[in-house]
Amino acid sequence: MHFDVLTIFPQLFEPFRATGVLGKAVERGLVGIEAHDLRNWADNKWRQIDDEPYGGGAGMVLQASPVLTAIRDMTSRRRDARAIILGPRGRLLDQTLAEEMAQEPGLLLVCGRYEGFDERVLDISGAEEVSVGDYILGGGEVAAMVLIEAVSRLVPGVVGDPESVSADSFGEGLLDHPCYTRPPEVEGALVPEVLLSGNHEAIRRWRLERSVEITVTRRPDLVKRNWKRYSNEVRELVGRFAPDLIREMGGD
Ligand SMILES: C[S@@+](CC[C@H](N)C(=O)[O-])C[C@H]1O[C@@H](n2cnc3c(N)ncnc32)[C@H](O)[C@@H]1O
Repeated sequence: MHFDVLTIFPQLFEPFRATGVLGKAVERGLVGIEAHDLRNWADNKWRQIDDEPYGGGAGMVLQASPVLTAIRDMTSRRRDARAIILGPRGRLLDQTLAEEMAQEPGLLLVCGRYEGFDERVLDISGAEEVSVGDYILGGGEVAAMVLIEAVSRLVPGVVGDPESVSADSFGEGLLDHPCYTRPPEVEGALVPEVLLSGNHEAIRRWRLERSVEITVTRRPDLVKRNWKRYSNEVRELVGRFAPDLIREMGGD
């Protein structure tokens, strides 16, 4: 899976692509990450690609022509790449979208800065806009990194144990259960006994119960969205922890 990033700060991606699980995935050739300086497409010797907004107001705007040319150059180099502009008005990135993107051979991620892009970049390029949340970042680079991390984890081989990916929060439409490690007691707080029992079935059941309990309490919207994919066991637990939610969804 290949990620090309268009940004005015390509250096931000150097440590990112060389560190941790992602760094190993890059080393092993499972994931490629290349950041390209948007200023390379400037049409002036000052490498300037921003200008004042028409109509006045604060901040600068990234000009359409250099960004459009950059997107065209990149998509002609990698014809199979899906072009994405990072922006707060876009489709919210969630696990479903990350799973969908992990099926793509490549992604082109275009990062804004300042007040964002001249609107014609979006109109003309046809690239889709993706947001990482309902808040404003200073630039699209961190958003692109969020997307790269979320999508790369789903590329086979990137995370050593595939079970740990499917067991993560959202993997089965549920939030993750609590985890504990040594020592068994911290400031008087004990590890739940069942986890020390060695009884695999009891441990599985306890973890599932905690997952369902946490999900219905903190994110009932996830339950509603994922109800159809839940097993009977999960549905029964939802009924036990949140009977009101079942009634709300039109169940008995
Ligand atoms: C300061 S923001 C511009 C915000 C824009 N004026 C607005 O209010 O929609 C600069 C750049 O950061 C990126 N950005 C900011 N928030 C983001 C978010 N929630 N998701 C994705 N990208 C974001 C976008 O690339 C954007 O062009």
